[in-house]
Amino acid sequence: MTKYLVGKVGDIPPGGKKIVDAGSRSVGVYNVQGRYYALRNLCPHQGAALCTGVTTAFVTSSGPGDFAYECEGEIVRCPWHQWEFDVKTGQMVVDPATRTIAYEVSVEKYDVSVDDEEYIYVHIR
Ligand code: FES
Repeated sequence: MTKYLVGKVGDIPPGGKKIVDAGSRSVGVYNVQGRYYALRNLCPHQGAALCTGVTTAFVTSSGPGDFAYECEGEIVRCPWHQWEFDVKTGQMVVDPATRTIAYEVSVEKYDVSVDDEEYIYVHIR
């Protein structure tokens, strides 16, 4: 496993992200409430730079006129066709009500570590 320097902890505050080159890959590193997550910056749909999309919340509703935002900063929305992925897992957020067939789709996800000097690293096999 090769580790790639991302930057210092102060470079990515909570709610922030940084897109870096890790070998031949582009990777988005996210800070979600003090924990770091790394996703490949490549949408599995048609290849957009996924991590350049908006980082947002998951919207839930119990009925018309009632909605709530959950998991703020944990969803990335692809800039091309708006598919949404969970930053923590790389899994696509699927709306079963609008799909007859749900395909399992995910983004490649990598391990992230922070050393004693507060440098962030992403680990790629
Ligand atoms: S390329 Fe990402 S949703 Fe289409």
